[in-house]
Amino acid sequence: MSISATLRRVEQYYDAAPRSDARVEEIGSLTLFIGTGPWSYYARPRLGVSVVQPQDVQRACGRMRELNLPAAFEWMAESTPSMRAAASRSGLSVVDGPLLVVADPVDVMLPGGVRLFLVGADDPRLGDYLHLATHAFSGTPDDEDPGEPGPDSSEAAVAHLRTRIADGRTVLMAAISQNRLLAVGSHHPVVVGEDVVSEIVGVATLPDYRGRGLGAAITAALVSDARQECSLVFLSAGDDDSARVYERAGFAQIGTACLATS
Ligand SMILES: CC(C)(COP(=O)(O)OP(=O)(O)OC[C@H]1O[C@@H](n2cnc3c(N)ncnc32)[C@H](O)[C@@H]1OP(=O)(O)O)[C@@H](O)C(=O)NCCC(=O)NCCS
Repeated sequence: MSISATLRRVEQYYDAAPRSDARVEEIGSLTLFIGTGPWSYYARPRLGVSVVQPQDVQRACGRMRELNLPAAFEWMAESTPSMRAAASRSGLSVVDGPLLVVADPVDVMLPGGVRLFLVGADDPRLGDYLHLATHAFSGTPDDEDPGEPGPDSSEAAVAHLRTRIADGRTVLMAAISQNRLLAVGSHHPVVVGEDVVSEIVGVATLPDYRGRGLGAAITAALVSDARQECSLVFLSAGDDDSARVYERAGFAQIGTACLATS
C-alpha cells in the first residue's frame, strides 16, 4: 500500500475509533468527539477535509469550553496542512510526534525472568495496570505502592476498560516479574471499511525498569497479537526517543501526528 493510501486508512481509523465511546458534533470543517464515558476525546478535521479555517477552531474551542472539556485537537500534518496555522492563530500550542506503521515486524527478546500476558476483562488487578500507565506518563518517581489508585484508575475508568476488553475494543498486555507489574501497553482494533486496523497506545514501563528492552518487547507482542486480525497496525510516538523504541520492534515513520492544546 502506498504511503498516501496508508495515511488515508489511518485517518479513517481516527474518525471511526472514538465513535463507540463518544457522540459527535460537526463544527464546520471539524468533527468534535464528546466522550460519553470517562475517556476524553478531541476535535479533528472532518474526514476528507483538507482546509480548516481558524474560525472553525475558535468555534470548536468555544463549544469545548461550554462542555467543560479541555481544548484538544488532533490531526495528521500531511493530510491537513492548514490545521497547524488555524490552531496557532487560535492561540493553541502545537506539538508534533512521529506517526509510525508496522513495516517489518521483528521478535524482541524479553529480559530474563519477565513474562508477558494478555489481561482478561475479569482481572482483579485492572486498576493497577491503569495506575502504572498513569504513573509512567506523568513522569513521577517510582513508588512502592503501585496499587495506589491514580486519577485515571478511578472505578469508572476501570469499569470502562473492563467493558472494552470484554467486547474486544481494547487488547491490554502486561509484563510481570516475580508478581511485580513492570510494563503495560494496549491496542484498539476497529473495523475500517472491510479491514480491521489497530492503534497501539499507552506503552509504559515503570521508571525504574526502563532501558532493559521491556518497551520494545511489549510493543512487539502487541503487534504480533494485532496482526492476527489487522491489516494495518500503527501508533503515534510522543517524540523521537519513544519512536526509536518502536522502530526496534519493526515500525517505520510514515507521517507526523499533531496535537494542539490551550
Ligand atoms: C517509552 C517507554 C515506554 C520505553 O520503555 P523501555 O522499557 O525503557 O523501552 P526499551 O527498554 O525497549 O528501550 C529504551 C532504551 O533502552 C535501551 N535498551 C533496551 N534494552 C537494553 C539493555 N538490555 N541494555 C541497555 N539498554 C537497553 C534501548 O536501546 C533504548 O535506548 P534508546 O532510547 O537509546 O533507543 C518508557 O520510557 C516510558 O514508559 N515512558 C513514559 C510513557 C511514554 O512516554 N510512553 C510512550 C508513549 S509514545
